[in-house]
Amino acid sequence: MSTPNDAQRPPSQSYGAARMEKIVSLCKRRGFIFQSSEIYGGLNGLWDYGPLGVELKRNLKNYWWRVMVHERNDVVGMDGSILMNRAVWKASGHEDTFSDPMVDCRSCKARLRADQVIDKGKGKQCPVCGGKDLTEPRSFNLMFKTYVGATEDESSITYLRPETAQAIFVQFKNILDVSRKKLPFGIAQIGKAFRNEINPRNFTFRSREFEQMELEYFCGAEEGMKLLDYWKEERLKFYENIGIARAKLHVLTVPDEERAFYSKGTYDIEYDFPFGRQELEGVAYRTDYDLSQHQKTSGKSLEYFDEETKQKFIPHVVEPSAGVDRTVLALICEAYSEDEAPDDKGKMETRIVLRFHPRMAPVKCAVFPLLKNKEQLVAKAKEIVDLLRPHMFVFYDESGAIGRRYRRQDEIGTPFGVTVDFETLGEKDLALRDTVTLRERDSMKQERVAIKDLATMLISRIA
Ligand code: GAP
Repeated sequence: MSTPNDAQRPPSQSYGAARMEKIVSLCKRRGFIFQSSEIYGGLNGLWDYGPLGVELKRNLKNYWWRVMVHERNDVVGMDGSILMNRAVWKASGHEDTFSDPMVDCRSCKARLRADQVIDKGKGKQCPVCGGKDLTEPRSFNLMFKTYVGATEDESSITYLRPETAQAIFVQFKNILDVSRKKLPFGIAQIGKAFRNEINPRNFTFRSREFEQMELEYFCGAEEGMKLLDYWKEERLKFYENIGIARAKLHVLTVPDEERAFYSKGTYDIEYDFPFGRQELEGVAYRTDYDLSQHQKTSGKSLEYFDEETKQKFIPHVVEPSAGVDRTVLALICEAYSEDEAPDDKGKMETRIVLRFHPRMAPVKCAVFPLLKNKEQLVAKAKEIVDLLRPHMFVFYDESGAIGRRYRRQDEIGTPFGVTVDFETLGEKDLALRDTVTLRERDSMKQERVAIKDLATMLISRIA
């Protein structure tokens, strides 16, 4: 367990702030991300994903699952409950220590994380009002407390889980028994986590409700450090394979004094967001701390029996723990760009384009009949939609000039556009009958492709 203590960075550069403003506005305008409960004024630190945001998020989670579970022999999945017995959180240490030190400003009543209080040499000051009348730091537990059942008393207290990992640890024995895996092996999970963050900020970056993609990779003690490096490298490859430039990814070796006491090594994988370099994922060697704690508290054996050495021991664990929402935000920030493209009259105009990796793009292909009042063009375009739909998320659009339709798709990152024109009908040249124009988003290059080859060609490009 680690508290969300990603380093405080210098204030955003104005370029970064302006870029972020454009990204947030695009996310709302095109249906990626909305403020939760917006019509009631919202609720700080909570976000809803719209029609495109949910597709992007699913593509990310599906790819993570594919790479971390399906393409490996040594990892199985699980899906645990969000509410668990309170004893889990006592054993894991969350009930006592999952907290941030917090300071109240008595002048403006702001509640601040202790590390946000500024000291310019004239004593500590409130960053909101400049006041110096501050309380001493107090611990503020980040877990959301709730009650299970009809009575609200001490005996019914539990918490919304602040990480998905604990469900994996407490199911370790069941999963070991049913999967019959041998060490080293892992258990993967994707799910919601909740933290009552004191200062949610930077759009979805620090939210109060978010999703994690976590792997607990169990091993013998002697393999821990080696596997820590192995997983760091695997995870870096993952980010590159979803379209995040290696140059914008950084590995921070968490110094001894900042690591959780039970961890023998932790890397933070960071990304250069427009608001600064911030953590995307933590890769931590957690030793045998978690399983030992649960064995001690529950009184149930969580040991592993090694058939070869005939020894029983508590496995160690290496944990790559990534944030879904942070990665979605990184994907959008990475993809956002502006360039120049000709409008329908050939005049150059600014084009907003999300250069998503095709694997991540919410819509894979848009299909356009050149004219909406030409029945045969429309019928052919709809046939193509039916042809592609079993394989990918396709969008049909017949309204407006073709240039505007391309532009609308560029703005949401659709990598391919298919246009059905008179040549498709064989009106100009019989050799071109049943071919379409395939336009690629980034280069804007167009090629003529036979309809019969379209599905195979696109499937290979979005895989
Ligand atoms: N099981 C280990 C664990 O939870 P963590 O560093 O606290 O470690 C892992 O969290 C990842 O979860 C972070 O790297 C981040 O991507 C994501 N995360 C944590 N707190 C978050 C928050 N408030 N909002 C969005 N994502 C968050």
